[in-house]
Amino acid sequence: MIPIKGLILSGGKGTRLRPITFTSAKQLVPVANKPILFYGIEAMREAGIRDIGIVVGDTKNEIRGAVGDGSAFGVKVTYIEQEAPLGLAHAVKVSRDYLREDPFVMYLGDNLIRQGITPLVDEFNREKPNCMILLAEVPNPSEFGVAELRDGRVVRLEEKPKKPASNLALVGVYMFDSQVFGAVDEIRPSWRNELEITDAIQRLIDHKLDVRSHVVTGWWKDTGKLEDLLEANRMILLDLPKKVEGTIGADSTVEGHVVVGAGTEVVGSVLRGPLIIGRDCRIEHSYVGPFTSVQDCVQVKDSEIEHSIVLNGSKIIGIGARIQGSLIGRDSEITRPNRKPRCFMFMVGDSSKIEVL
Ligand code: G1P
Repeated sequence: MIPIKGLILSGGKGTRLRPITFTSAKQLVPVANKPILFYGIEAMREAGIRDIGIVVGDTKNEIRGAVGDGSAFGVKVTYIEQEAPLGLAHAVKVSRDYLREDPFVMYLGDNLIRQGITPLVDEFNREKPNCMILLAEVPNPSEFGVAELRDGRVVRLEEKPKKPASNLALVGVYMFDSQVFGAVDEIRPSWRNELEITDAIQRLIDHKLDVRSHVVTGWWKDTGKLEDLLEANRMILLDLPKKVEGTIGADSTVEGHVVVGAGTEVVGSVLRGPLIIGRDCRIEHSYVGPFTSVQDCVQVKDSEIEHSIVLNGSKIIGIGARIQGSLIGRDSEITRPNRKPRCFMFMVGDSSKIEVL
């Protein structure tokens, strides 16, 4: 049996997650303190894939720095450069030398599928269709590639349709054999000037090749926007086992599923899970509530926070109201100095978003 290769797309600009993505690749934003990209690599490994190509763009150094040669995940990673984000089908084109004639699973690096991809990869391996796509019911199909099914078979696919034919969106995981290379050569750029994989799959259908689909019933998310990222965080936190390595003072309470990393101190505070706090943090006279992920070396003092993601090295001190639904970038400071005149003071990056009481 020919081993299936993996292709993870990790380029793109992540405009909808600015300003975080001005300084970080969107695929490295953490969900439950682990970069989104790592979930994809792990799902591939779980499905028996050992040889993974990662398509990278402007953020290549950062992605390489985080993933390395793949040995930490038990896989071999090859980096493939895409000079510009010209579409998913373009990414397949530039990966041709790496993929050769082998079947492969393509996985968008900002997608998360809670139940993994193992049964789908097994089916693809066993039945050898030319292409397998995953679909999921969504409330907002015009933001995705959309499939029209007839008698259970895909008859038409359209990228970001104004009038969607169904509510079945293309999930960012696709399986192909080498027929896809002919299809990506045939298509032309779309209105957004990208070579769309959706159009390439339509070509496979037009050529009467075997294109199968599965409707994903479990949870799936494309984490391109803040609200999706927070939802992904909520889902993944539900699966985490309870584990406390740091020090919880006798004057603190811990309720529900809570993970606290080594070196973290919790003093006079309430932690209400599900939540994760990384290493070497200090949580003092504060409330950290459900669905919150706090990375490493973060200080939270005299404050309340829930349903949020806080990245490495940030400080949240003396905030008089509860912080919710927030994504706080690395080394940020949100404080409340006792100074006159009382005023708001901001030094925020481009495309930031602040809501005040
Ligand atoms: C891409 C695909 C789209 C698919 C989506 C899934 O959209 O073009 O067909 O439904 O991923 O995440 P994009 O993220 O490029 O807007």
